[in-house]
Amino acid sequence: MKVGFIGTGKMGEAIIAALTASRGTYRIFACEVDAERAKTIKRRYAINVYKRSVSVLESTNIIFLAVKPQDLDAVLKEMAPSITKDHLFISIAAGKTIAHMNSIIRKGKVVRVMPNLATLVSEGMSVFCKSKRVTAQDKKMVVSLLSCFGKVLELPEARFDAVTALSGSGPAFFAYLMDLMVNAAVEEGLERKDALLMAEQTMLGTSKLLIENNLDPQELIDAVSSPKGTTAAGMTRLKNQEVSKIISRTIKAAAKRSKELSK
Ligand SMILES: NC(=O)c1ccc[n+]([C@@H]2O[C@H](COP(=O)([O-])OP(=O)(O)OC[C@H]3O[C@@H](n4cnc5c(N)ncnc54)[C@H](OP(=O)(O)O)[C@@H]3O)[C@@H](O)[C@H]2O)c1
Repeated sequence: MKVGFIGTGKMGEAIIAALTASRGTYRIFACEVDAERAKTIKRRYAINVYKRSVSVLESTNIIFLAVKPQDLDAVLKEMAPSITKDHLFISIAAGKTIAHMNSIIRKGKVVRVMPNLATLVSEGMSVFCKSKRVTAQDKKMVVSLLSCFGKVLELPEARFDAVTALSGSGPAFFAYLMDLMVNAAVEEGLERKDALLMAEQTMLGTSKLLIENNLDPQELIDAVSSPKGTTAAGMTRLKNQEVSKIISRTIKAAAKRSKELSK
């Protein structure tokens, strides 16, 4: 299958790398304005990298839009005259709505995706929504492409601010909490590198436990907390320090900002 990319920065490259490594036979055609970057991508993946976005449109009907949100409108305007009803765009640009993209391109089909940084290690979380013209077959293809670099979920576009706050910004929030736990463990006498290894592996293991045993977080907490034990002592503190209010305000602030940026 031929797949196009407009923009081969951090996210674009991560997706190209995942598709290249997957079992699917993808032929990739990319457009990159940064000449040095274009050379690097061409060398690393042995793919065609063009200067003009229209060259990608002429090579394939399925195109990832992986430029920064502030560059997206210019890219869409440049391509608009050459877009046909069969072109399917998969946009990962944060905050750019389907209605907004449709107002520029007029023809073609659009899927909007909110991926996250874990795409770089093929453990991403991609949430997508689609325009009316996207067919069931298009959707199947999009899910199989997105599945190459993590888990995939379809949700209505109205949920995208909450999605952005949870899985889009989530890696930073989890990393912040992890850093606080590591700092506290250092105060208890651990070396930072040891504490970091323990925290990282514990976060990874906790995620795996929840996923593979289909557990609710509370079930896992109950399983680890024996009465009057160490976990219970820590949990009592966590519950008494208004952590839930702070986390709720954090997610609300990120969702509010996402809404503002979409306007
Ligand atoms: N990073 C994340 O965690 C994350 C998460 C979710 C969604 N996203 C979305 O992913 C998108 C890409 O982010 P990124 O971090 O990969 O950005 P990035 O590293 O800046 O990559 C974008 C690339 O596209 C190039 N470009 C700009 N205009 C172009 C054009 N007209 N034609 C072809 N190439 C063009 C840029 O070149 P120049 O540098 O020369 O401009 C750059 O190399 C963004 O829209 C962002 O909202 C990112």
